Amino acid sequence: MTQFVPVDSLARPAAPVVAAPAPGGPLSLRRAGMADIPELLRLINAYAREGIMLPRTEFEMAENIRDFSVLYAGERLVGCAALHFYGPTMGEIRSLAVDPAGKGKGHGRLLVEHLLGEARGFGLSAVFAFTYVPGFFRRLEFREVERGELPLKAWKDCLRCPKFQCCDEIAMLLPLR
Ligand SMILES: CC(C)(COP(=O)(O)OP(=O)(O)OC[C@H]1O[C@@H](n2cnc3c(N)ncnc32)[C@H](O)[C@@H]1OP(=O)(O)O)[C@@H](O)C(=O)NCCC(=O)NCCS
Repeated sequence: MTQFVPVDSLARPAAPVVAAPAPGGPLSLRRAGMADIPELLRLINAYAREGIMLPRTEFEMAENIRDFSVLYAGERLVGCAALHFYGPTMGEIRSLAVDPAGKGKGHGRLLVEHLLGEARGFGLSAVFAFTYVPGFFRRLEFREVERGELPLKAWKDCLRCPKFQCCDEIAMLLPLR
């Protein structure tokens, strides 16, 4: 009879992949866990109130928590980003947010590069993002594309977006080699 051995490391977030000194405490980047949800909601929904990001609920966060990576300075969440799969070859970088006080310090780049590594590890051939900050994604070698080039399913979040009929987000794509 087959024996199933619980793999403890799968039950909790991966160990930090970055640990560097930073104001506010050492900087650490790791996969998110359920305990991060209150801080994630604080960061994301502050931007959602400005109309920059889609609002998230605790239920949605729990459902998608395995997509997320989190960047902490000491005890404070200073950035987050998620990689969501669309079929076996394509992924979306979404819910990218850096604490307003920590912008311009390379945190956004660190998070996206971390997710690109993850995307390569899963064998994806491209990642995309819908964004109001194409300049940031251009710095990371994404290029602007027509929405029609992206998988239809990627539009599912659009259905509940207040800007559904007048969307001004830009689609950016990065082929992975
Ligand atoms: C967009 C955001 C994630 C950038 O994070 P950040 O930590 O400030 O960015 P970084 O310091 O890592 O910048 C990386 C590069 O992008 C450039 N960059 C950063 N923000 C930029 C912007 N708004 N426009 C153009 N270029 C930008 C930087 O100059 C830097 O270039 P360099 O590496 O050549 O010096 C952050 O401003 C944010 O959270 N914004 C609000 C939420 C949001 O818009 N999220 C994106 C949803 S898709």
